[in-house]
Amino acid sequence: MLLEVKDLTIPTFDQECVIINKVSFGVKEGSIHAVIGPNGSGKSTLAYTIMGLNNYKPSEGKIYFDGIDITDMSISERAKLGITLAWQEPARIDGLSIPKYISLGIKDKVNSKDIIREALQIVNLEPERYMNRTIDESLSGGERKRVELAATIAMRPRLVILDEPDSGLDFIVIEDFLHIFGKIKGLNMTILLITHREDIGMVADYGTLIWRGDAILTDVFPKVMLRYCAKAGLKEFCKRKLFNGKQACFDEDYIDKIFREEQGL
Ligand SMILES: Nc1ncnc2c1ncn2[C@@H]1O[C@H](COP(=O)(O)OP(=O)(O)OP(=O)(O)O)[C@@H](O)[C@H]1O
Ligand SMILES: [Mg+2]
Repeated sequence: MLLEVKDLTIPTFDQECVIINKVSFGVKEGSIHAVIGPNGSGKSTLAYTIMGLNNYKPSEGKIYFDGIDITDMSISERAKLGITLAWQEPARIDGLSIPKYISLGIKDKVNSKDIIREALQIVNLEPERYMNRTIDESLSGGERKRVELAATIAMRPRLVILDEPDSGLDFIVIEDFLHIFGKIKGLNMTILLITHREDIGMVADYGTLIWRGDAILTDVFPKVMLRYCAKAGLKEFCKRKLFNGKQACFDEDYIDKIFREEQGL
């Protein structure tokens, strides 16, 4: 496992309540792993705690990255090990040229021009058109997200955490982003994909269902999604939307069984 979360409990900043409750799961190297759950279930809190953002401190449990205990490490120590949270502070970068911004995190300075071009290509921005542009309000929301993702790719982190990557994107662009995630995976980066949307999650190999702060199930993504639907009581939606396409790996009986289990029948 590249990332392992063990019995992690995360309280609110004032320590009054628990947001994440004894959560454990592992993320395999080279996989896309979705953390899925309804609004307010604790997904972002989990993501920020894995990244080590200020104030996000577990009260119990451990986080391991490539076997190293990172629970008490700072955000910059974690970044050095290869953990990145994409789309974190978009406002900060205004005014920089696109290549300058992408180059900031590149370690291999000798080949940085090639790495910038490659990163732009991966996010489907033609280098010829975007190498001379500046990051400002002239970029569309989708272009901006692509530039930020290109900067993340150029850093070559081992783990990329994406919190709700679809926010602010329209449906057609989302499709494109799902392809881009596949390309990132092809570069040996592991993706932890935080989402409450089943269609985004379908790009994932594995998933963990978070429900009111508890980790209910970690498994291949379709099974996790089925459990999510069962908990939410969305049987018809589940059958219609998720299991008619190429990921159709359950028959009706199996779906019925999971729904009965969830209802305690
Ligand atoms: N510092 C805090 N103090 C008090 N409550 C908090 C704090 N941070 C988060 N919460 C609460 O914890 C719950 C989980 O929040 P979180 O943002 O992790 O959910 P989420 O699963 O990411 O939801 P969404 O899908 O809406 O993004 C929410 O009810 C939120 O209001
Ligand atoms: Mg969130």
